Amino acid sequence: MASNWCKRLAGLCSTVAAALAAALAVLLPGVAGAEASSGAYTVVGDAIPFPLNGAKGDAARGREIILNRHVGLCLLCHSGPFPEERFQGTIGPDLKGTGARLSEGQIRLRIVDPGRVDAAAVMPAYYRSEGLTRVAPAFRGKTVLTAEQIEDIVVFLATLRD
Ligand code: HEC
Repeated sequence: MASNWCKRLAGLCSTVAAALAAALAVLLPGVAGAEASSGAYTVVGDAIPFPLNGAKGDAARGREIILNRHVGLCLLCHSGPFPEERFQGTIGPDLKGTGARLSEGQIRLRIVDPGRVDAAAVMPAYYRSEGLTRVAPAFRGKTVLTAEQIEDIVVFLATLRD
């Protein structure tokens, strides 16, 4: 009896979820490189232990996003083991060895919302859409990077172990 209910409930849930996903796809205009709002995630200590989109990222893509001066803009402030890049920043810590210092979950929170680690953080929140000030109208309510892009970056930075 109980298992029957579970089955029917699960069926209902997946129908509702599919309808929601379809509605969202219609409602959200296709914004390149930005999500309409940050999805829910759980912070445990100083980390977000699970991938934002439930999927493991791709390290090669993560490296590209970090180096891309139009997408991640990370090298404005950071330097790292990227010998081909001439101009690298010095405002933030060197990204070399990030994976040896921090777990994937710790890296994830530091990119999603550094202000949750240190209220005085200088680094922008790459996956926050609320509580920001002076955001240009076209970007209001949107995240800088998508959950997928953040996951790509997390996996890549975790490989920087020395
Ligand atoms: C405006 C400058 C700036 C930009 C842009 C920036 N960061 Fe940062 N980042 C910092 C600073 C400064 C810190 C140290 C914590 C703080 O004060 O915010 C930091 C900390 C970090 C840390 C933690 C490092 C550690 O060893 O504790 C990681 C990882 C990181 N940044 C990755 C990135 C990535 C990836 C990007 C691009 C998607 C990026 N940052 C963009 C300034 C920046």
